[in-house]
Amino acid sequence: MANDTGIPAALTRLHFHDCFVRGCDASILLDSTPKHKAEKESMRNKGIGGFECSPYRWHYYDVLGGRRDGTISLIGDATKNLPDAFFNVTQLKENFAKKGLSLEELVTLSGVHSIGDCHCSSFSKRLYSFNATYPQDPSMVSTYASYLRAKCPRPVKTNSGVDPIVPFDPLTPTRLDNNYYKNLKSKKGLLFSDQVLWESSLTKKMVGSNIKHPSAWASKFASAMVHMGSIKVLTGSQGEIRKNCRVVNY
Ligand code: HEM
Repeated sequence: MANDTGIPAALTRLHFHDCFVRGCDASILLDSTPKHKAEKESMRNKGIGGFECSPYRWHYYDVLGGRRDGTISLIGDATKNLPDAFFNVTQLKENFAKKGLSLEELVTLSGVHSIGDCHCSSFSKRLYSFNATYPQDPSMVSTYASYLRAKCPRPVKTNSGVDPIVPFDPLTPTRLDNNYYKNLKSKKGLLFSDQVLWESSLTKKMVGSNIKHPSAWASKFASAMVHMGSIKVLTGSQGEIRKNCRVVNY
């Protein structure tokens, strides 16, 4: 983190994206082969990073040992299993439930969008072409929308490589705090899938509680990360212990 303040965000997302696809088996680290494109090539993994990083300590939580490495990584699995940034609460809830995570854990974990960056293409529809009735997403406050439009001029061309990034939390972009929830209440959620947590009656109270009780949120966050990190862990003789993180053993 001393060399690159983006590393904690990158590694947290890497962990999430690994666990939601075939369980926490490091399949996200595998490179594509001549026969198959790997998970890391999926659009849902846009901006994913941290592959070159060695272990480090951050907000401390225990990680269970003994986990082994998977041998399969397929692009289609990532698209199928990872949530989309335009999912509503019902879709997000279903997606997390399939992984054994509760609605409360979904709200708790989403608070990590208090650190890190996001490509304009992941939310620019909210600024320019939301739907037939509203060109701009009415659940985003207009001052924040203007700020984002200045950073993300239309059109955002992903294929031309012109796709700027903005911080999730412009005020404290590298501090994991409960500002995320405060931003949602002020209608300054960056992704559609963030803002819906305040807009929906299913999750609004949870957001409010995380604003009022930051330390309770921090301990729920640690527990939810550990729970997420236990999804379909390979043990015993399952999988293998990879010699090179990027390729399966011979
Ligand atoms: C609830 C559903 C979620 C959706 C739809 C979602 C979607 C996204 C998207 C679209 C980005 C930006 C990608 C880009 O354009 O560069 C992002 C970034 C990020 N996500 Fe999520 N996410 C979700 C939940 C989570 C969870 C549960 C975690 C971890 C526990 C997480 C951790 C992160 C982090 C840390 C970043 C910033 C990465 C960086 O700066 O390198 N997200 N997410």
